[in-house]
Amino acid sequence: MAFNRGPIPKQAAAFLAGKAKVTTYVSTGEKVTSQFAAHNLSLVPAIKPGSIIHDNASGSGTVTRLILASNPPADITIHATDIDQPFLDVLSADAAQHNWPVHVTSQKCEKTDFADAFFDYDFMNIGIIFASGAGLDGAREVYRTLKPGGFAVVNCWKRIGWMFPIMTVHKKFRGDAPFPAPPINWTDGQHLRKIMIETGFPEEKLKLESQDVVIELDEASGEYREWVEKSWAYLAGIGGWKPEDEEKWDEEVDMLAAVLKQAPTTKVEGGKVVLPASQWVAIAEK
Ligand SMILES: C[S@@+](CC[C@H](N)C(=O)[O-])C[C@H]1O[C@@H](n2cnc3c(N)ncnc32)[C@H](O)[C@@H]1O
Repeated sequence: MAFNRGPIPKQAAAFLAGKAKVTTYVSTGEKVTSQFAAHNLSLVPAIKPGSIIHDNASGSGTVTRLILASNPPADITIHATDIDQPFLDVLSADAAQHNWPVHVTSQKCEKTDFADAFFDYDFMNIGIIFASGAGLDGAREVYRTLKPGGFAVVNCWKRIGWMFPIMTVHKKFRGDAPFPAPPINWTDGQHLRKIMIETGFPEEKLKLESQDVVIELDEASGEYREWVEKSWAYLAGIGGWKPEDEEKWDEEVDMLAAVLKQAPTTKVEGGKVVLPASQWVAIAEK
C-alpha cells in the first residue's frame, strides 16, 4: 500500500518529515498497536532467560519497549527490524542511550539475514499486512527464523473505526479517485490463519483470537482534533494527495472530526471521544 502518492500538502509534510513522522505515529496509530502488543505479550509463556526475540516490523519499537518495561530476564536479546529509517533511528538512539540489549537493523520482513531457527519469539505487531505475497512471504520468514518450540505472535487489523470516515472525507474532496483497500481482506482472521498454516505451523499449535480496544480522546483540550489532523496526515495519502488538499486542509480535518464523531461505532462519554479498533492475533508454536 503506497502511503503518500501525489503532492504532499505542507500541513501533512510537517507531521511526516523525518523524526516528526515517528511522533505523529506514536500519538495516533501506536495508541492502538501498543494495546494490541501489551495484550499479545500476555498470550505466550513468560520470556525465558537467554531468549532471542524478534520485534518484526518494529516501527520505533512498540513491542521492544513493552518487553523491556516488563522486567524480563537480564540476558535477553531483542532484534528490532523495519524498513522505515526514521523509526529505526529513534529506536537505535534510545537503545544506545539506555544501554538496552537491542540490535536495530533495516531489513525487509520477507528476507532477513537471520539464521534458520534463530529466535525464541517473533512478535510481528501489525506488520504482516504489509508483507508481499499477501503476507505469506513475511510469515514464511517468521517460520524459518523461529526455533522449534519457539512462539510466533502475528496480528492484523480486524476493524479500524476511523477508516470509513477517512474514505468519506476522501470521496467528498477528491471525488471518484479510488481509495485503495488492502488487496486481501484480513477482517475475519481467516487469511491470517491460512498463511500461518501454509508456512508450516502445525494447526493444533495455532490459536486465533480477537481483541477489541478503544482510544479515548479529550475534546475540550484539543486532543481529539489534533489526533484527527495527524491521522488524516498519516493516512489520507493512501488515497493520493491532490493539490487542493493543501488549500482545503482545515475543511477536510474539520469534516473528518465531525464524521468520525458521528460514526455509529464512536461513543462520546464525559467529554471524550471513544474510538474502537480491533485485532486478530495468531499465536503459533513451531
Ligand atoms: C503499523 S506499523 C507497526 C509498527 C509497530 N510494530 C507497532 O506495533 O506499532 C507497520 C510497520 O511495518 C513496517 N513495514 C512495512 N513493510 C515492511 C516490510 N516489508 N518489512 C519490514 N517492515 C515493514 C513499516 O515501516 C511500519 O513501521
